[in-house]
Amino acid sequence: MIIQPKIRGFICTTAHPVGCAQYVQKQMDYVRSHGMIGNGPQRVVVVGASTGYGLASRIVTAFGCGASTIGVFLEKEAENSRTASAGWYNSVAFEQKAKNEGLYARSLNIDAFCDEAKQRVVDLIKKDLGAIDLLIYSLAAPRRQHPRTGQVAKSVLKPIGAPHTSISIDASTNTLETVTLPAASQEEIDQTVSVMGGEDWEFWIDALAREKLLGERFMTVAYSYVGPELTKIIYRHGTIGRAKDHLEKTAKKLDERLKKTGGRALISVNKALVTQSSSAIPVIPLYFTLLNKVMKEKNLYENCIAQICRLFSTRLYTGNPIPVDENGLIRMDDLETRPDVQAQVLESWKKLSQENLAQLADLDGYHREFLQLFGFGFDEVNYEADVNPVQKLLSLP
Ligand code: NAI
Repeated sequence: MIIQPKIRGFICTTAHPVGCAQYVQKQMDYVRSHGMIGNGPQRVVVVGASTGYGLASRIVTAFGCGASTIGVFLEKEAENSRTASAGWYNSVAFEQKAKNEGLYARSLNIDAFCDEAKQRVVDLIKKDLGAIDLLIYSLAAPRRQHPRTGQVAKSVLKPIGAPHTSISIDASTNTLETVTLPAASQEEIDQTVSVMGGEDWEFWIDALAREKLLGERFMTVAYSYVGPELTKIIYRHGTIGRAKDHLEKTAKKLDERLKKTGGRALISVNKALVTQSSSAIPVIPLYFTLLNKVMKEKNLYENCIAQICRLFSTRLYTGNPIPVDENGLIRMDDLETRPDVQAQVLESWKKLSQENLAQLADLDGYHREFLQLFGFGFDEVNYEADVNPVQKLLSLP
């Protein structure tokens, strides 16, 4: 089958297995070029391990720390003429590369919110690893069925209190547009907190702690975002921000609990990056394109793998106390939030027009990175070649 990108709105409905393998290989090469991280974790679970920050975390722990990894994700296998999802191909490639290096890697394609997912990970750890040193929580999900009540919650990206009108970008045509987002109802806020807040993270820790599977100096890290004033109404003061508040509160609670046995629970505030989830957030892609332009000009640009590599090598596993801000958060968005960077982004935002858009925004970079999330746009890959879309995960029966 010849596989080409098919873009519908902010999603690409096809993915390329060879391109996804290249995407994983490039991340692996990046990690390798930075050398091994001493004192890193050896037994790791990543929840949300197939794309974005979670995939980068799995790659850094495996190839930068030599860790055994269990990855949990929810992806689609190829069916008839439909390709698998990018996260599926990424995980196939990851497992193959881990196997080539003699590294243990098991994957579970399952809804992470359900009790069965936790039970299956518990069983795998008991059988193969004994305990774990690190759990990365990197879920970005549109919905959650609550494991106790059975109720389905959906996450929405809306402002709170009043509707909000902002310029945005229609990425399919590179045109500026004005969007108005309606204010969220209390029900929508609560549902978003249920999906993207910390309750499920706590359920994971409960399940593992109950079975005494948290190793000595166990650490768990979840990812959050703060962002500048420019995006506050939509992000940090919106429904997703409420969920992140809950996630951060959960981190404090878990940290108190784990500290008693030498463990830690932390939040890493990461930089805004193009991922499958973030490109779906209204207004944010326009901010990315302006931010990326400035960060590239200043030689400060980082992608997912660079962020996570730096998180592990300069924050989490240095042998020194983990540096956090006044709210106890690890700040990997330190370069994004630098005053000179933000001043320039704000200046671009204020003078933005359709005429100067291509000059002020890194549109080409955005489109390239977006396509690469699905395995397209790599010079090394021959996209005219016939490929088999059916790829099996080694560790699934
Ligand atoms: P992503 O869309 O690339 O990855 C989401 C992962 O969650 C995938 O592995 C997917 O399979 C998995 N997933 C979704 N629903 C699932 C379910 N029900 N069961 C099992 N797995 C499921 O997202 P991204 O951007 O890497 O986000 C990860 C975390 O990082 C999120 O908490 C996000 O808020 C945070 N973050 C993202 C930033 C960004 O700009 N992309 C910035 C800072 C934080």
